[in-house]
Amino acid sequence: MPRKSRRLLVAGNWKMNGSLVASRELVDALKGERLGAAAAMLVCPAYPYLQTVKQWLTGTGIGVGAQDLSDRNGSGAFTGEVAGAMLADLGCSHVIVGHSERRALYGETDELVATKFRNAQAVGLTPILCVGETLEQRETGRTDEVVRRQVTAVLDRAGVAAFANALVAYEPVWAIGTGRTATPAQAQEVHASIRAIIAARDATIAANLTILYGGSVKGANARDLFAMQDIDGGLVGGASLVATEFLEIYRAAAN
Ligand code: 13P
Repeated sequence: MPRKSRRLLVAGNWKMNGSLVASRELVDALKGERLGAAAAMLVCPAYPYLQTVKQWLTGTGIGVGAQDLSDRNGSGAFTGEVAGAMLADLGCSHVIVGHSERRALYGETDELVATKFRNAQAVGLTPILCVGETLEQRETGRTDEVVRRQVTAVLDRAGVAAFANALVAYEPVWAIGTGRTATPAQAQEVHASIRAIIAARDATIAANLTILYGGSVKGANARDLFAMQDIDGGLVGGASLVATEFLEIYRAAAN
């Protein structure tokens, strides 16, 4: 595979899974990996495990990110919320915003996602902005329209310069947790169109933007996905809970 100018990233979104013991086992298995220059590795545990996982990973080069953050800034009477500043305080480098599960199950709107995106950047976190269409939207030919709306909502509110310090993850909803991966060609088509949306405002920022693919990424399909011109790594759910599988995906990006 020709080496891309962009550094790849393989990120594990652990979602609401695991335990302290399971997290420790996973971290121990990942810690042995020698990270290459071509690809970075990030894990995103649930809030209660962030600090501990971060400490376990000290000195390994493996980054830690959060799965969400509050739409509220600063501090105050927002019971149950977690501010971006708290995540930065723990040493998180990244935070996922607008995951389709947040959008679908918790009613997060494009506007709210844009607020979270901006809040993340305001405290020095790199947001990973998730976008993607449902099966019904794909089957009715609305993929481009939906993804464009989701990306533009953030572009309009945060400005294109913000994308110099952000990642986008294309995660077709129909491919998440279903075992039904987008084909490399299907994913590439949407990735190219995301890059074009950004390029219409700033070509350099678009060229440097890391765009991850997520949705049933496995060791067996990672290499073909990452070989595509505009696919710069993966946001991995289920397979990131199995160390051997996640490492296989990482190696597909790194080698
Ligand atoms: P799966 O890899 O389990 O399909 O999940 C993808 C995802 O939602 C990552 O954020």
